[in-house]
Amino acid sequence: MEFSIKSGSPDKAKCDCVAVGVFDSRKLSEPAQKLDKASGGHLTGILRRGDMEGKSGSMLLLHGTPGIAAGRLLLIGLGKETEFGEKAYRDAVATTVGALKDTGSRDVLITLSELPVAKRNAAWRVRQGNLAVHDALFRSDQLKSKKDSTKPALDAFAFSVAGKDVRSATAALTQGEAIARGMNLTRELGNLPANICTPTYLAQQAQKLAKTFKLKCEVLDRARMEKLGMGSLLAVGLGSHQPPRFIVLQYHGGKAKAKPIVLVGKGITFDTGGISLKPGAEMDEMKYDMSGAASVLGAFHALATMKLPLNVVGIIPAVENMPGGAATRPGDIVTSMSGQTIEILNTDAEGRLILCDALTYAERFEPDCVVDVATLTGACVIALGAVASGLMANHDGLAEELLEAGRVSGDRAWQLPLWEDYQEMLKSNFADIPNISGSRAAGTITAACFLARFTKKYRWAHLDIAGTAWRSGASKGSTGRPVPLLTHFLLKRAGKL
Ligand code: BES
Ligand code: MN
Ligand code: ZN
Repeated sequence: MEFSIKSGSPDKAKCDCVAVGVFDSRKLSEPAQKLDKASGGHLTGILRRGDMEGKSGSMLLLHGTPGIAAGRLLLIGLGKETEFGEKAYRDAVATTVGALKDTGSRDVLITLSELPVAKRNAAWRVRQGNLAVHDALFRSDQLKSKKDSTKPALDAFAFSVAGKDVRSATAALTQGEAIARGMNLTRELGNLPANICTPTYLAQQAQKLAKTFKLKCEVLDRARMEKLGMGSLLAVGLGSHQPPRFIVLQYHGGKAKAKPIVLVGKGITFDTGGISLKPGAEMDEMKYDMSGAASVLGAFHALATMKLPLNVVGIIPAVENMPGGAATRPGDIVTSMSGQTIEILNTDAEGRLILCDALTYAERFEPDCVVDVATLTGACVIALGAVASGLMANHDGLAEELLEAGRVSGDRAWQLPLWEDYQEMLKSNFADIPNISGSRAAGTITAACFLARFTKKYRWAHLDIAGTAWRSGASKGSTGRPVPLLTHFLLKRAGKL
């Protein structure tokens, strides 16, 4: 698929289809007005006859419109003009792709990218439009012997913008492409089942990425982790036959002395709960418990493609959480790399156990900041659903940067407090800290409070992506979030937004 930026009269565009917007009720968008004029009022005639109201989600495909070079015109309903915003824009792009992907159109010009969206510029519209196209075209048929669709997907997709915006839109398109590819990597890894996507497999993927982009990649095995004293991380993998892996990726695009941003991703390749076994229903979804890790790999893919002038370290503790003869028992006490002892009261609260050692390991990079990404708590799904990731931080400036990256990218996060009062909920009779609090109250926050005990030496933020990393139900699958949030954060840090 080739993407491009075009400016000029849509009626003269030589392509298979031009997509144009119509607002509710029957109001032609500006590019549609141009086409209407060129066609001698063909579009107004259609609206008058009542075939297109402009309601959001509606569409009408026209063939052989007089005066129009393209063979097809796709009218896309945009809803009320006064309510046309970020979501309506993305939805309209997705509707366009949905309508065209199973037609004979291979080469499309979309004019929705010319329409104003409050507070956002052409670069934003192109970047977001590009992501919406990729999202609509993504197929999860990697492991199907017969692919979902036999029709070839679209080959060429052009966004039209005003002449003055061509430059910024072209740059934004390159960014959008990089982010979309990163997201696709994240989605593919997320969707892979745990019998394929093991800790060893994740390490191989990291090494492959390192080879492609000339990154530094280290993979530590169990013996190395034992030497480092990662007793908490190692306790999680004891019930599994899959050996644990500790993956460290380094991207050097910034000044030699610039402190790195460290991204840490939870890489539980399958979470049965361990001895504190999960109930059976929907347990298959616990293959997504490495989505944090996959999003770090996706963000690295995007970052390295864009060659951002930053130093970034990616840390992925990769472990499978299984019950087994050697598995950790509830009540077991382990010593983390930080020296703090942990009473493992619930082996299903394993994410924090692997993250705490990764967060301690992060200290050696003297980071500018550390952001961890984890499908950490079911409580976060209850609190925020699939709309926003949970954000908690020990530094307000960093939290605000991430929230803004979420708003701009449409991959939103919402902050929850990490007040001292919540720390009191984590008390163990026998060790320095328990891995769960005595009550289910504020489960997302108490999980972050646990992590906060290991992040005192640097600025740190935690993203709980349990609700956002994948969709459940009929359209089950990895979403690629929070790759857009992370990459926008990095783009902004790199001065490229
Ligand atoms: N991976 C799960 C969190 C999760 C649950 C994500 C459901 C998405 C959907 C995590 O390891 C876990 O099991 N957390 C427990 C913590 C509890 C034992 C304190 C949870 O949320 O139930
Ligand atoms: Mn768990
Ligand atoms: Zn888990």
